[in-house]
Amino acid sequence: MKTYTIGRTSVSVFLGDITTWTGDIIVNAANSGLLGGKGVDGAIHSAGGPEIMEQCMEIRKEQGGCPPGNAVITGAGQLPAKHIIHTVGPIWEGGGRREEHTLAECYRNSLLLAMKVGARSIAFPNISTGIYEYPKGPACDVALKAVTNLLEEDLPDNRLERIEFICFTPENEELYVQWLEQFTQEKEAHI
Ligand code: APR
Repeated sequence: MKTYTIGRTSVSVFLGDITTWTGDIIVNAANSGLLGGKGVDGAIHSAGGPEIMEQCMEIRKEQGGCPPGNAVITGAGQLPAKHIIHTVGPIWEGGGRREEHTLAECYRNSLLLAMKVGARSIAFPNISTGIYEYPKGPACDVALKAVTNLLEEDLPDNRLERIEFICFTPENEELYVQWLEQFTQEKEAHI
């Protein structure tokens, strides 16, 4: 596990199953219809129970779903977390369809929504790197840049103490640990 602290917020990487995570908010890699699916979306809905889908359907009725890059929040049903933020990553189409911008917006909008509800801790999966086929290395860079950039804005309503990336494969875990190692070294070199 690797941890980097920015201000009062620590950023860490773990290998594991996000449905067992016990903090305030877990982030789901959903689809724009909020219809559930496979991957982490399927795992969250099957472990969390039908209550989560009921709330997703309410959101669909109110606003028609969740456009890529945006984020919505529901309860967490039977899961140990308190809430779920559902965000929709870009489908990788070669990099020429603003996929990088959309993926960065997923992380930024999820964090802004978490701050809005006063969350102290949040866990992210590696959004878009499964069924949506975003290359894992570039996705790691986009994710950690988006998160560290937002933390460095030092927003007044940021009460987040813990941001954790829950990797489901050792490949992603290694990418995130390496990225944080390098980021830490670069920061220390400039002190
Ligand atoms: N905990 C943590 N991470 C997980 C878990 C889990 N239980 N299950 C899968 N993952 C990881 C995958 O290994 C991948 O690294 O989540 C990451 C995102 O992969 P997907 O779940 O396939 O999500 P994504 O690539 O964003 O595709 C989203 O898939 O399930 C559908 O409805 C979903 O249409 C949407 C699409």
